[in-house]
Formats: sequence, structure tokens, C-alpha cells
Amino acid sequence: MTSRYGISEYPDVPAIQACLARLTSTPVATLTKDQLAAYRGWYEEHTPGSRAAAAEAEAAIPGGIQHNLALNEPWPLHIVKADGPYLHDVDGNRYIDFLQAGGPTVLGSNYAPVRNKVLELLAGCGPVTGMPHSSEIALAKLIHDFMPGVQKFRMLGSGTEAVMAAIRAARACTGKTHIIKIGGAYHGWSDQVVYGLRIPGTGSLEAAGIPAGALAATSEVLPGDLETLRAKLAANAAAGGTAAVILEPVGPESGTYPVTRDFNASVRDLCDEFGALLVFDEVVTGFRLGMGGAQGYYGVSPDLTVFGKCVAGGYPGAGGVGGSERVMATFAGGLTAAGQRALIGGTLSANPLSCTAGYHALLEMDATDAPVRAGAAGDRLRAGLAGLIARYGLPYVTYNFGSIVHLHTSGVLHLSLSDPEFFDKLGPRKDMLGHMSMAFAAEGVITLAGSRIYTSMADTDDVIDDALAGFERVFNTITPA
Ligand SMILES: Cc1ncc(COP(=O)(O)O)c(C=O)c1O
Repeated sequence: MTSRYGISEYPDVPAIQACLARLTSTPVATLTKDQLAAYRGWYEEHTPGSRAAAAEAEAAIPGGIQHNLALNEPWPLHIVKADGPYLHDVDGNRYIDFLQAGGPTVLGSNYAPVRNKVLELLAGCGPVTGMPHSSEIALAKLIHDFMPGVQKFRMLGSGTEAVMAAIRAARACTGKTHIIKIGGAYHGWSDQVVYGLRIPGTGSLEAAGIPAGALAATSEVLPGDLETLRAKLAANAAAGGTAAVILEPVGPESGTYPVTRDFNASVRDLCDEFGALLVFDEVVTGFRLGMGGAQGYYGVSPDLTVFGKCVAGGYPGAGGVGGSERVMATFAGGLTAAGQRALIGGTLSANPLSCTAGYHALLEMDATDAPVRAGAAGDRLRAGLAGLIARYGLPYVTYNFGSIVHLHTSGVLHLSLSDPEFFDKLGPRKDMLGHMSMAFAAEGVITLAGSRIYTSMADTDDVIDDALAGFERVFNTITPA
């Protein structure tokens, strides 16, 4: 099995942090009113079908939108075709796809060899039977081959479910109470982890509809802050103990707040010292960084690993949790399982469709070296963006972890709660993100929330260079403040 990774050079985290601090302390460099009007004009002229669909959706769907990762200004684009590096909308426009469905499609969109295996399966047993299927075993064994620490694997329906399961298993296994997460990280939307979301230190700011009790045993520490982590572990020890520390290995929000290369190993040491389980949320990094995941790349073994996205190869039902035999024993399955068991499940969990798609996608990713090729595309894009940012004298910040590329233009996610102007800056910088996302799309490039880019194996040099030309058309209209 390959152990190659898509990160060719680790980002210089202190230098990036200094640039991000500068970005949030200088005025925004954004589109003028006239430029915004011109981009809105482009949408009006070229996307009438999406506009009509958006109006129809308003009546049937809350807020008119089911997915919002691509941002929605002036209205969401309705996609009818996905193919390799491209998305095509209802009006016949073609875009370079750097959203990548939020991350799972490292092979590129709608990859034919995987689709063919899925179609074969559908023609036979259909998507679901509720009975065991060989693809469940094949997928679990393959994950173990790539990540030897995952001795057993339980397939679930989403990353959110997998996080819930991991937390429950950690408590069942340790008999301890508290959960510590790293501020800013997204671990899905279940009650216990909607805390310190997006902007580190914001605690329960986004916890509408969640009773305080559900969050009573959750706390956050700022990214990279080992001293506070130690202090919290020590404080928790006298109050029920810490069942788990959960983290995204490249840093919260897929590295939006990057952590230094030694951070995960230091957290591992602290978990061992205090008898807490270490949970790696590899929903994004799992197989995208390399087939060994972040745990292979960093050489750090978590007690539990949370999977999502790639684990079903870009098909629905993408979630799972894995770990050592001992910890995974809390997930004993079947109606007759006995003992101290963490109850989890799902009618459609581990269905043949998701498992078949995941199995064949992972095989293909390994055979084609997709994570490394996607990482090289990310490197080329980041280098090109850095060149454009310098050429146009913009305060923007770009860096990448292989195929996870960051492009921070407004700095909204890096505002600090301790900044006295936090609430004054928040609105305009958030708006700017929507405007930039709209401008990029009008120039032919769809990004994730205007600030993150996932590259795939389908992103050839020509695709990346085309995308850079699109970014340049936006950047060269912006005057540095
Ligand atoms: C790091 C991380 N964890 C968990 C999740 C939740 O996964 P899902 O959307 O499948 O519930 C996500 C989703 O984006 C994620 O990025």
C-alpha cells in the first residue's frame, strides 16, 4: 500500500499567522460598488435558469437553499452536470469546480470507473437491503490496510453521526465525562459539538436550539494552545475527567487556523498523561492528504478516527468511525450484542451503495496516486495565487496542505473576539466573502465559501492555469486599501 502524501512542503505556520493578523488589522481590499454591479449584471444575463430555480426553491425550502457551501450571492447556481474538474449549470455555463462537493471527490467529479461499479451494484441488489453485503467487509479491510491503527471500522451515514458515535464510545470506554475540542473546528452539527464554531473562542454563539445542558461537558481551547489544553485536562480531572480530545489534524476548519507540525503529537502526549482518548476527525483529511490519512502523515496514532466524505467516494451515506479493537468493542453490533455497549446504528448505515462506492473510490485513489496528484495541483494553484497577490499588492493570504488550499481575502474567520472592533468588522467582512465568491464564480471558478479550494486529480496544469486567469480577472479590478 502506498504511503505517499499530497503535502510537498508543510506551511510556515508562524509566518501565515503573522500575515493573517495583518489581514484583519488592515482595511478590506474589496470590489467597488461598480464592480459588484457589473458582476451582478453578469449573473442576470447569464444565469436566468438558476435565478428562476432559486425563486421556486424559496417557496419550498427553508431559506431557499439546502446546501450553502458555495455561498449564494446573488442567487445559488443550479448544477445539471458534473464531470472531472468541471460543473455545468442549468444555463449552460461551465465552471472549474474547486468546491468538490465539500471535499469527497479527490478523483474528480463523477469519476467513471467508480460510477460503473455503482451501476453494476444497483442493477443487482439495489442500493439497500438491510442485510450484510460483501462491500462492508471489503471497505473495512481496505481502510485497515491504509490505516493500520483502524483495526475495526463501523460505517455510519455522515461525519456528524460518526462524531456523535466517537464521543459516545469515548465516554463508554473511559467512564469519563468531558469533551475538549479546538476552537473554530467543525465536527458536524450534533448538540455537543456546536461550540466554538468557525471563530475560535465563540463558545455557544451558534448554539440556537441546543439546551445548555447538552454543552455543559464541552469546552474549547484556542488552536495551538497546549498550555490551556493542559490546564483544562487538569481541571476536568477533578470533575469527571476528560473522555476525549477531538481535533482536525491540520487545524480547525480544514486548516483555516493552521497548526504547527508537532501539535498533534503534543496533544497525543497530553491525552496519554490524563487518560483521555484522542479522536482525529479525518472527515476531510482522511484519504485526501494521502491514503494513510493525517495519522499516517503526522505519524500520530489516535484512539478513534472519524471518517466522512471520501469514505463513500463522493456518494451519499459517508461516515464512519474506526479504532483499536479495544475501543471499538463498545460498538458491538447485532440484536444479541451484550455488555457495556454504546448504542449506535442507522437504517441505511453501511448500505451496499455507499460501501461499494467507497471501496472502489479508495482503490482507485490508491492506484492512481490521486492524493499526490491533487496535492500537486494545490501546490501549483497556491504558488500562482501567491504570485497574483504579490503582483496586485493585495493583503490576501494563501497557503495549502496539498489539495486543501486556503485563500483568505476578507479575514472574517480570523477576527479575534478580543478585538474591540470585532462586531463592527464582522458584517462587512462576511459580506465581502459573499462578494468575492460571486466574482470568482462569474469568472468561472466555484470555491468553497469564497475562501477554501479543494483540488482533485482531475485538475491538470491547464485547468489550474485557467482558474488562475479567472482569479486574476477579479484581483486586477481591486485597489489595495
Ligand atoms: C472536519 C469535519 N467533521 C465533520 C463534518 C460533518 O460531516 P457531515 O457533513 O458528513 O455530517 C465535516 C463536514 O464538513 C467536517 O468538515
